[in-house]
Amino acid sequence: MTNLAEKFYPALRPLLFRMEAEAAHRLTIRALKVLPRSSETHDDPALRITLWDRNFPNPVGLAAGFDKNAEVIAAMFGFGFGFVEAGTVTPKPQKGNPRPRIFRDLEQEAVINRMGFPNVGLNTFKTNLEKFLGTRPRPNGLVGINIGMNKSQTDALKDYALLVRTLGPFADYMTINISSPNTPGLRNLQDPGAFRDLMSGLLLEREKSCGKTMPPPLLVKLAPDLTEDQQESLAHAALDSKIDGLILTNTTLERPAYLQESFRSQKGGLSGRPLTDKSTAIIRNFYRLTGGKLPIIGAGGISSAEDAYTKIRAGASMVQLYSALVYNGPGLVRQITGGLAALVKADGFSHIGEAIGKDAQ
Ligand SMILES: Cc1cc2nc3c(=O)[nH]c(=O)nc-3n(C[C@H](O)[C@H](O)[C@H](O)COP(=O)(O)O)c2cc1C
Repeated sequence: MTNLAEKFYPALRPLLFRMEAEAAHRLTIRALKVLPRSSETHDDPALRITLWDRNFPNPVGLAAGFDKNAEVIAAMFGFGFGFVEAGTVTPKPQKGNPRPRIFRDLEQEAVINRMGFPNVGLNTFKTNLEKFLGTRPRPNGLVGINIGMNKSQTDALKDYALLVRTLGPFADYMTINISSPNTPGLRNLQDPGAFRDLMSGLLLEREKSCGKTMPPPLLVKLAPDLTEDQQESLAHAALDSKIDGLILTNTTLERPAYLQESFRSQKGGLSGRPLTDKSTAIIRNFYRLTGGKLPIIGAGGISSAEDAYTKIRAGASMVQLYSALVYNGPGLVRQITGGLAALVKADGFSHIGEAIGKDAQ
């Protein structure tokens, strides 16, 4: 069923593109909070996927950063997402970097952002999340929570542990974000030593605080700018640490030469179409390095069912997107889920799970 936002997006699109990017985003969030929505989803059973004992109605999710404060989770399920990742949330509220800090390249369908984790902080995030969890009827998609540390924090484990302890009981999975390029020093947590220490601390925290019944799976989100050597050592560290999965990838610091100068010279992380192949290559490599033993959620420049399917065949069990929503609107989600079901069948599979990693062997 099409809802109002899907119907009116084509008419609103030129207006949104005339606005400064973050102002357009804020207006979108405000509209999504009040617009009536459909909660019906009719996913093809071939797209259902079970991971970490949780049932996802389809493998297409909203990537982190769109709903930083867990304000519009229900609205996003209304567009047909199988899961929504809210955040990045930090313990204390913070303003992030000075504006402007989001830039669009319409021709290349790309985005550069240097947000720096602006968010309302843990307490308000939790209130918003509880409001969603009380929604009736409750949409059947699942909710991931993406966590990060405050800019002022020097002890990373302290912030991440607090977030796991406080939000873990509400999450279907949690993402440890150590790959945003806009918090100084954050990506250093991808160094194998720091990575091992952080993960063992967080797994211990989860055991202590979330109980034994349904502790949330802990996933780690990595950057696409890792060298071959770094990928290899992180793949081993991830397997050894017994974390539950990987999100590949965050935005890139790379700037392909074909991007126009005024856009490519902006500082921050690049996403959208220019990231598509780079993130797929990383997914394939990690799938091989981990022998397919660690579930991967693939993200980076997905703007069609074909893009999503390519990432699944490269080794992703599920996928996420954000930037393509800016350029294609919310109707894209159902186009992708519908297209995926058709691609699975065209390949002679009865279920999407059979396609995972088929191009990584
Ligand atoms: C404006 C913007 C803000 C983002 N904020 C976050 C964030 O807070 N946390 C995070 O883990 N990723 C964040 N991302 C990265 C996305 O979640 C995703 O990994 C990346 O953009 C690649 O997917 P895409 O090409 O479909 O956008 C952000 C991306 C954009 C465009």
